[in-house]
Amino acid sequence: MNKKITVLPGDGIGPEVVQSAIEVLNSVAKHYNHEFEYTYAKLGGVAIDEENTPLPEETVRLCKQSDGVLLGAVGGPKWDTLPGHMRPEKGLLGIRKELNLFANLRPVTAHESLTGSSTLKSEVINGVDLMIVRELTGGLYFGEPSERRQVNGEEAALDTMIYSRSEIERIMRQGFELAKVRRQKVTSVDKANVLESSRLWREVAIEVGKDYPDIELEHMLVDNAAMQLIRNPKQFDVVVTENMFGDILSDEASMLTGSLGMLPSASIGSGGPGLYEPIHGSAPDIAGQNKANPLATIASTAMMLKYSFGMVEEADLIDAAISKVLNDGHRTGDISNPGEATLSTTEMTAKVLEAIEELQAVKN
Ligand code: IPM
Ligand code: MN
Repeated sequence: MNKKITVLPGDGIGPEVVQSAIEVLNSVAKHYNHEFEYTYAKLGGVAIDEENTPLPEETVRLCKQSDGVLLGAVGGPKWDTLPGHMRPEKGLLGIRKELNLFANLRPVTAHESLTGSSTLKSEVINGVDLMIVRELTGGLYFGEPSERRQVNGEEAALDTMIYSRSEIERIMRQGFELAKVRRQKVTSVDKANVLESSRLWREVAIEVGKDYPDIELEHMLVDNAAMQLIRNPKQFDVVVTENMFGDILSDEASMLTGSLGMLPSASIGSGGPGLYEPIHGSAPDIAGQNKANPLATIASTAMMLKYSFGMVEEADLIDAAISKVLNDGHRTGDISNPGEATLSTTEMTAKVLEAIEELQAVKN
């Protein structure tokens, strides 16, 4: 197959981890006789510096024309004092909206060999395998108005949490469809004891659930969900939640894997290209030092192969290679224990490439 991939390296460690991911994609392409064609475009701080906007029109055009989008990370202290509409993050939110990527899938799988690098007890996290399905184009992130105004003679600021039935319905459906091929359980997370938007969320969740009689639907308040995630994470299969709750819970859940540097994500919509990115940020403190953990971005390309290109075997190969390097004891700084040797970004990438060769050799 021939696939066009738009690459948005972005800021900070973005370009480094994206480079690693592309090397892995190329190796898979070689083994399976695919051709991946890469077109680079600017997003975030780098776009602000060079084009004076976090999301140039050319970037949107290139993304829309492609079969899939690979993103590194955006943001950094350099752009932190810019007004809201000019921040790098606005570019990321903009491209999610432009591509109508309403569903953000964030799988959380604990690699057994990594349980030692988590701050949690291994018996709590061994065997964790859950999927956070985060609504990505609505809620507080996009609700209007979102502004400063004068209230009772003083400065105030507001954001709007708004969800329509159809927005809730499509994300819930996504969650149920995923649960079908997993362990048949959906936990819908809301704050229905306080928020009207959550009460509608719960109503719609129940309605959609009627179409999936074989799947268990449970409702959980977000504060309780935050607690349950570290108390007993193995109770979860698919967690479906609104944009902001999903943002917060997925950072928390990343700790079940030992490091934020391990979590990939897929953002998908209705038919167009999906966007694949690690959930970690641009890590400006280690940018350009060849220290970043590339595994989350590499795992994100596996999600691209699976969800956008239907290349399941190829995706499994990448995931198996990641497991192999971890089982073999290879660690970047973020996942190593004190005193353990740590690999650089490029060394870790080389280990993944080697693992792919070895796994293929065994197969053939
Ligand atoms: C994420 C990030 C983004 C978000 C930021 C960078 C805008 O934290 O993908 O989780 O909040 O969605
Ligand atoms: Mn986040």
